[in-house]
Amino acid sequence: MGKVILEVKDGIGYLTINRPDKLNALNNEVLSELNTIIDDINKNSEIRVVIVTGSGEKAFVAGADIAFMKDLTPKEAVDFARLGQEIFFKMEQSEKPFIACVNGYALGGGFELALACDFIYATENAKLGFPETGLAIIPGFGGTQNLSRLVGKNIAKELIFTAKMITASEAKELRIVSQVFKTKDEMIKFAEDVAKQIMKNGPIAVGLAKRAIADGFDLTKEDGLKYEASLFGVAFSTNDAKEGLTAFLEKRKPEYKNS
Ligand code: HXC
Repeated sequence: MGKVILEVKDGIGYLTINRPDKLNALNNEVLSELNTIIDDINKNSEIRVVIVTGSGEKAFVAGADIAFMKDLTPKEAVDFARLGQEIFFKMEQSEKPFIACVNGYALGGGFELALACDFIYATENAKLGFPETGLAIIPGFGGTQNLSRLVGKNIAKELIFTAKMITASEAKELRIVSQVFKTKDEMIKFAEDVAKQIMKNGPIAVGLAKRAIADGFDLTKEDGLKYEASLFGVAFSTNDAKEGLTAFLEKRKPEYKNS
């Protein structure tokens, strides 16, 4: 069994980090498998939405592998950080939505993996945080950038400087997590329903909306608006947009062909 598993069913890609004996910690091997699987997901037109989770009940991902990192040289540390950043950025740039289902610990690199997804659900027993400063290192898979963009600099600094873990409900209050569930099964079922809802909509439009938000976010308001308008134009170059607008006027359900 691989360290990262991808199963595809009814348009949903189930991506599972599968190293439960080490609480799914990320080492080079896991990252390299994840990298290949993200490429496969991007190429696979059968997959419309991806649900990301960790193997077992205890952890989503408890971070980058501390045993692996211990003897890294500064150069190797940079390379390791860049590898993780590139993979997570590829997820952010993918046209497909990624839903993080955080079952248990999402720490350090695991929290960063969840933050690279488009939104986050969590179980009641989840614990999220950046323990890095407690190890005298810093988040390196995009955490300083993504958390501050999500919750603002002050809250991000508080969480990162203190290295404290927060509960799922605290994370919901901070709007890091969208919904909290009693069990993993309940959470996955909910994520599947959300995925089905997304899959009713124009696939290219969902991808364009993701791009407009992801890439537009760091632009000035003016450039963001121009970017949005240009992607609005791209939507109008698709057959699906013609179908969606026509179907409404003909009072019927649209049939999208991803073209
Ligand atoms: C390597 C890890 C690990 C990790 C857990 N394990 N987390 N191994 N790296 N991040 C291993 C343990 O060593 C142990 O292996 C097994 O998983 C079970 O974990 P326990 O500690 O026995 O479980 P428990 O007592 O329940 O504690 C759970 C925990 C704790 C609170 C989550 O494991 C923990 O604090 N883990 C480290 C969390 C962390 O600091 N993450 C951030 C890493 S830095 P054995 O063989 O003993 O059974 C990071 C940087 C990202 O992520 C950026 C990089 C560029």
